[in-house]
Amino acid sequence: LITPVVLAGGIGTRLWPLSRQAMPKQFLSLLDDKNQQSLLQSTLLRVATEDFNPAILVCNEQHRFIAAEQAAFAKPHAIVLEPEGKNTAPAIALAAHYALKNNITGPLLVMPADHHIADFTGLTAQLSDAIKLAEQGKLVTFSITPTEPHTGYGYIKQGAAIEGTCCFEVDQFKEKPDLATALTYLAEGGYSWNSGMFLFTPAAYLKELERFAPKIAKSVANATDFKKDLAFTRANAHALEACPSDSIDYAILERSNNVVVMPVALKWSDVGSFSALAALSKKDSQGNSQNQQHIAQNSINNLVISEDGHTIATLGVSDLAIVHTHDATLVAKQDSLEGLPLILKQLAITQ
Ligand code: GDD
Ligand code: MG
Repeated sequence: LITPVVLAGGIGTRLWPLSRQAMPKQFLSLLDDKNQQSLLQSTLLRVATEDFNPAILVCNEQHRFIAAEQAAFAKPHAIVLEPEGKNTAPAIALAAHYALKNNITGPLLVMPADHHIADFTGLTAQLSDAIKLAEQGKLVTFSITPTEPHTGYGYIKQGAAIEGTCCFEVDQFKEKPDLATALTYLAEGGYSWNSGMFLFTPAAYLKELERFAPKIAKSVANATDFKKDLAFTRANAHALEACPSDSIDYAILERSNNVVVMPVALKWSDVGSFSALAALSKKDSQGNSQNQQHIAQNSINNLVISEDGHTIATLGVSDLAIVHTHDATLVAKQDSLEGLPLILKQLAITQ
């Protein structure tokens, strides 16, 4: 059986003011699904089948109670706590060590806790090929057909087919290229997006980590005298202090020759911005996101989100994102949203 590793330690700043440090986006129910599940819960539900072991959840200790409450239905194998986020390479390493210490040697399916996937069977239907390669020590990534020159993703140049499987060698992995590079990739063809999900054995991952990020490998290894604390598993905070921050993408995937790719047909979104959220929401006849709190006259293509039943009326405006929460409201042109980090910087300085 495969053991899911769910990464839930991100901060989701591009969805401010919905997503906050105390309540980042993976814990929010952002999509108009009937059951009001959070993105984390939808992620856990995807792997709540007999093909998977209970998940290992890795998150920041700051969010441990909300994580435990939301994950309770899935009875996770463990909730591993990080005192401080050090990005995905260390977070996955903690899960890999935890797995080995608990005699889990088979493949781990690493999944971000904050993605929307409409048809996960697009991945699970072909998983046996990926499992075969993972058991041979490969790091398998899953890739998505790109639709735009998005600069927030990893780009994978597919190499030769691997005989007897639906997987391919990776000729090149480039994390978050600049716009000009992303445009050339799309024009050239043969590139796909890294979905952010991976399959490998804990041993294979730790071997690559030792090779390409020895400092991370060492600090994390020193932090694995895991301590049980209620429902939680705490890594050694002191040892992790010394750990450099890096993502699996920069630290390993860009450098390792041991990475292979399985293209998957998924209805996938990383819900990474208000534009992504707008693309996922149901629309009225004027292209505004459907929202009972929104009263619209002569208003087109607006994303309006309102908490606490607050009514928002728009008159003669188009292509705006208006996000109202109990203590902060964002009004932005949708095509200016890449500037949102500047607002957050300003907030941090003035408060
Ligand atoms: N536990 C833990 N600790 N989780 C973390 C940490 C951390 O320090 N940092 C990030 N995460 C979680 C996030 O919550 C998210 O679920 C996942 O790890 C990926 O991190 P992101 O920060 O969202 O990465 P990204 O979106 O910039 O890029 C990755 O995903 C893209 C697809 O969405 C890369 O893998 C790209 O190559 C990929 O295209
Ligand atoms: Mg992301």
